[in-house]
Amino acid sequence: MYKQTGKYGPIVKWVGGKRQLLPSLLAHVPKRIATYVEPFAGGAALFFELCNRQERNEGTFERAILCDQNDDLLACYRAVQRDPSSLIDALAIYHYDSDLFYEVRAQKTQGWSDVARGARFIFLNRTCFNGLWRVNSKGEFNVPFGRYKNPRIVDEKRLRAASEALARVELRTGDFDDAVKGLTKNDFVYLDPPYVPVSTTSNFTAYAKEGFGPKDQRRLLALMHRLSKGCVPFMLSNADTEETRGLYREFTIRGASASRLVNADGTKRGLVRELIVLPRAPRKKTAATQQAFDWEHE
Ligand SMILES: C[S@@+](CC[C@H](N)C(=O)[O-])C[C@H]1O[C@@H](n2cnc3c(N)ncnc32)[C@H](O)[C@@H]1O
Repeated sequence: MYKQTGKYGPIVKWVGGKRQLLPSLLAHVPKRIATYVEPFAGGAALFFELCNRQERNEGTFERAILCDQNDDLLACYRAVQRDPSSLIDALAIYHYDSDLFYEVRAQKTQGWSDVARGARFIFLNRTCFNGLWRVNSKGEFNVPFGRYKNPRIVDEKRLRAASEALARVELRTGDFDDAVKGLTKNDFVYLDPPYVPVSTTSNFTAYAKEGFGPKDQRRLLALMHRLSKGCVPFMLSNADTEETRGLYREFTIRGASASRLVNADGTKRGLVRELIVLPRAPRKKTAATQQAFDWEHE
């Protein structure tokens, strides 16, 4: 089990969260980054770990962009970033109770402040089954109540630390493609999309009502080619399958093990191999491409 190495860590439980993979991922992240970008932020485990690394003076990034399609998640991050005290106060109305859970789950949040949405989001995330955030075709959260001994709904220390970490972050709700405009070789992009299904029983892509299908995987592939061409360093993680090895064959592929909690059926969870995909090595080394790829071999 990987333990976070400092005061910064994810504030939500997230399917596909990258805690277990952090040591393998960190090995490929350059020490000096101008803009660090996570277009599929989710729980942003790597971002928070980079903040810990920075605290220890083991690497720096000047600013960051965290983007995700899930605006409930982003509303929560905005509240943590701008007004952690009000968010902590707003969380005081919640407690672990199944009637309250279903009442809150049914609420419509149009017109709510980020603080109210953020508190509702944290409550549902902490008390729902497996910390899943899954929505139906109308975009409504539909995960059942989860059975826990004594779930912690408010973790004030963690929320205040996250607020500090998010201070120099640009938060964006939207598609991954819009988060990576105008980047250069001094920046770094970590792509952690919903997984290509490992099997028919361990498919989870319903983070948003649009899902993430083969067309999105192809758009992502096109983006990786654009980043490569522009010498923008990046790293992608995905399940290690025949399909993903084929999909990313033109890039540098490294394998890593991680335990993943994707399968709703607890008995089928196990150690799933993951792929780490890096830019392809340049054919002809020019000064610019050499610089962009040096980090990979540090
Ligand atoms: C595997 S999870 C990321 C996990 C994250 N790295 C962590 O540590 O928790 C994938 C994320 O992509 C988001 N997502 C799905 N489709 C998207 C899209 N088209 N654009 C941006 N984000 C998207 C989901 O909401 C989900 O949070």
